[in-house]
Amino acid sequence: MMSREKNDRITRIGPGTEAGAVLRRYWQPAALTDELSGPRPVVPVTLLGERLVLFRDEEGELGLIGRHCLHRGADLCYGRLEDNGLRCPFHGWHFARTGQCVEQPGEPEGSRMHENIRTVSYPVVEKNGIIFAYMGPLEEGDTPPEFPDYDCFRAPDSHVFAFKGLWECNWLQAMEVGIDPAHASFLHRFLQDEDPEEGYGRQFRDKAANTNIPMTKLLRDYPRPEIRVEEAEHGMRIISLRHLDDGRTHVRVTNQIFPEAICIPMSREMTITQWHVPIHDGNCYWYSMFTSFGEPVNKEVMREQRLREHTLPDYAPVKNKRNNYGYNPDEQESLTYTGMGLDINVHDQWAVESPGPIQDRTQEHLGKTDVAIIRYRRMLNSAMDALAAGDDGALPATDNAAAIQGPVSIDAIAPAGAGWEDVWRDSDRERRTACSWDAGIGDDETAMSGAAE
Ligand code: FES
Ligand SMILES: [Fe+2]
Repeated sequence: MMSREKNDRITRIGPGTEAGAVLRRYWQPAALTDELSGPRPVVPVTLLGERLVLFRDEEGELGLIGRHCLHRGADLCYGRLEDNGLRCPFHGWHFARTGQCVEQPGEPEGSRMHENIRTVSYPVVEKNGIIFAYMGPLEEGDTPPEFPDYDCFRAPDSHVFAFKGLWECNWLQAMEVGIDPAHASFLHRFLQDEDPEEGYGRQFRDKAANTNIPMTKLLRDYPRPEIRVEEAEHGMRIISLRHLDDGRTHVRVTNQIFPEAICIPMSREMTITQWHVPIHDGNCYWYSMFTSFGEPVNKEVMREQRLREHTLPDYAPVKNKRNNYGYNPDEQESLTYTGMGLDINVHDQWAVESPGPIQDRTQEHLGKTDVAIIRYRRMLNSAMDALAAGDDGALPATDNAAAIQGPVSIDAIAPAGAGWEDVWRDSDRERRTACSWDAGIGDDETAMSGAAE
């Protein structure tokens, strides 16, 4: 349990908050490239509690500026997209990509008033289907930090599919489900192993790493994973061990990428890197980059499948708290642990939304399986302390960021009698060696030593 003050400290992200200051030191997903693909590439973006407008100008350059006109507050999402910026339809004030007001056509001839009017603007960079923004403090002439060399950025565009979805809860509780390896044995439990229909156990279709045991069965039969957490260059590596009755060990390696992303294996060939990006304190978007180490991804099929489960333009899930997530008690008896259908994203959504917009952590009781959550909160608190002390250099994953690779996210099986420590690195190395694009070396192999808990 924690105090209300401490809970506020780690969850609230608006301007002037401590957690918000930490998140602002990292590139944040602001929109999907898809959202700007229409005839008029202008979209509202609310990020970390700030109302902004994102646009692509006639030259293909991106701009992200304050949403409300600095004259009398009209909404620039309705602005005229012209002359490399947005012109407010109310009185014609024109804002450049830099946020600078460059024209006030209704003011007297020769007026220089506009020179002192500049709205907020943030640097934006497009990477494999997602437009990222940097909202940290930058002095005139400073450049924003470099991007890490994570697999999802390093892979060619043909091997990455990006999508997003709205969750009506605080970003932290959304992220915490991703660093909780125990929940899959319960929340995502499928009560049968055969496919009663297409889509059943879709995300667990692979046999668990050459075990010939369906992943659904393995998770169900071994609900008490041994969980180890290591510090890593990108944040944390979480190793979940399920010791099988025949002496083999199932090893699942997942990651927390500081501050608010995770990277997990989806199948033998595919990983998911997923950010939990605050809109306001009480809602967030997940942004996922599905990265293939094998064949190119089929973006049309992947997009169409997910668009069936979401409504535009908000990417709001079709199943949600207003329709009880499709909860069906009969299904809960016979098919799934939740009774909420076959899509595990819906299970996660229920798990993170049902505590309310901001989970009341004064009432929680963490157990052994929550070790990664405990460690993560410690990291976040340390990062906030460092910023409060003016020590920006102490933030995780910022030192020489461009050299940080991986992270390794994989399922593997260690034979009976063999140690599990090497098997996942060997599997990862094999996968990278066979990869058609230059998948690098994974991540820092020396991080293995020490720090295990
Ligand atoms: S409110 Fe935008 S120009 Fe007047
Ligand atoms: Fe989950």
